Amino acid sequence: MADKGKIIQRIKGVKDILPASAPMWQWVEDTTRETFESFCFSEIRVPIFEKTGVFSRAIGETSDIVEKEMYTFTDRGGESLTLRPEGTASVVRAYVENGMFNPPGARKLYYMGPMFRAERPQAGRYRQFHQIGAELFGPDDPAADAEVIHLLMSIFRNLHLEGLTLHINSLGCPVCRPGFRDKLGEYLATKKEALCENCQRRVDRNPLRVLDCKSRTCGEIAAGAPTVTENLCADCHAHFERTILLLEKTGIVVTRAPRLVRGLDYYSRTAFEVTSQALGAQDAVAGGGRYNTLVEQFGGPPTPAIGFAIGMERLISLLEDEAGALAPEIFFLPLLPEAEEIVFKFAGQLREEGFLVDMAFGGGGLKSQLKKADRASAHLAVIIGENELAQSQFQIKDMKSGEQFAVPMENLGQWLDEYLLGPD
Ligand code: HAM
Repeated sequence: MADKGKIIQRIKGVKDILPASAPMWQWVEDTTRETFESFCFSEIRVPIFEKTGVFSRAIGETSDIVEKEMYTFTDRGGESLTLRPEGTASVVRAYVENGMFNPPGARKLYYMGPMFRAERPQAGRYRQFHQIGAELFGPDDPAADAEVIHLLMSIFRNLHLEGLTLHINSLGCPVCRPGFRDKLGEYLATKKEALCENCQRRVDRNPLRVLDCKSRTCGEIAAGAPTVTENLCADCHAHFERTILLLEKTGIVVTRAPRLVRGLDYYSRTAFEVTSQALGAQDAVAGGGRYNTLVEQFGGPPTPAIGFAIGMERLISLLEDEAGALAPEIFFLPLLPEAEEIVFKFAGQLREEGFLVDMAFGGGGLKSQLKKADRASAHLAVIIGENELAQSQFQIKDMKSGEQFAVPMENLGQWLDEYLLGPD
């Protein structure tokens, strides 16, 4: 019983989402759902664990995820199961198992939820993290690539996130990739001694992965390596250029990234990442690409597909950096019990009109209640004391400028409209 009373700590690399952050998570989820719906994507919810083969088959035996990052365990029946490290493999499994290729045509699916990877925890890298993902099954058309990337960038735009860079590359197809792989392997073999230990193994098994290594020497060697983009077949080249052209029509700024490869093996042709300099070392807020053979590998009919996933913790840390998005616009300070009754009358109406409204609980004098409004980063403090009750008016203090206004109670809605939203 020596440990009795000792605080039990959470597992390393996981996070509690506390009430202070929950509204931000809900707002992100609601805004993304609306954006998905505007692109006609429907939600799919797949299990959090699967038979291990679902992931090892899809993600690739030589990928870091499968080699060393999966939470795999044997269940009571002796079966090997794994907590999902990503969503694509499970969605492909569900697409095939539920015959979602019928009726034929495009199938647009989205999902959100926790993923698990036994990575070394650091800022922006967790062992349980959340993704918002989308997968579009059916068309092999560059218009589908452009639509999926347009959807991703629209989510960021609707969340008012700026300062992001979209990097895009083509990884080639079964026609042109083997030739490139050999060429790259030959180049890397001449530099093998200088590569890190991991990359020395990768040269023969999966040379493309060397291009993704974070070690400085490997990075320098990769900088001189032949690029996949220079070695695309005519079809892949045309697909890539058309995708970029269509994206540019939407006004999205595209950065070509000839050395971009992805950490999962299922990709062919288009691959992309969205990064933010504000994130530090783990700078990718989203990644994705085309995967044309996965459905077949899972026993379905040949069905090209493309998708992406956004890392929610990274996304939310960017939004929190921009600060205050969910700070109350109106913060009521009821200085007496009768004032509290007035608050309950007005707060509901204002919330229905779409204002962000909060209030000070627990009574107290003006000074302590103003402190609460300040701590909540409120824009306007609406004070109701004895004088205000007697005169049927509110004292409103702009917490940013310090200005004060006396507003008749019956005019509150109209006054707030004009003050916060400006004239029509
Ligand atoms: P991914 O690049 O492995 O792709 O992950 C997508 C995003 O999830 C990353 O850009 C990052 O923001 C976030 N993420 C990944 N690992 C962690 C971690 N340990 N901690 C915090 N955030 C993390 C995929 O998962 C593919 N399934 C994307 C896709 C969908 N491709 C096609 N369809």
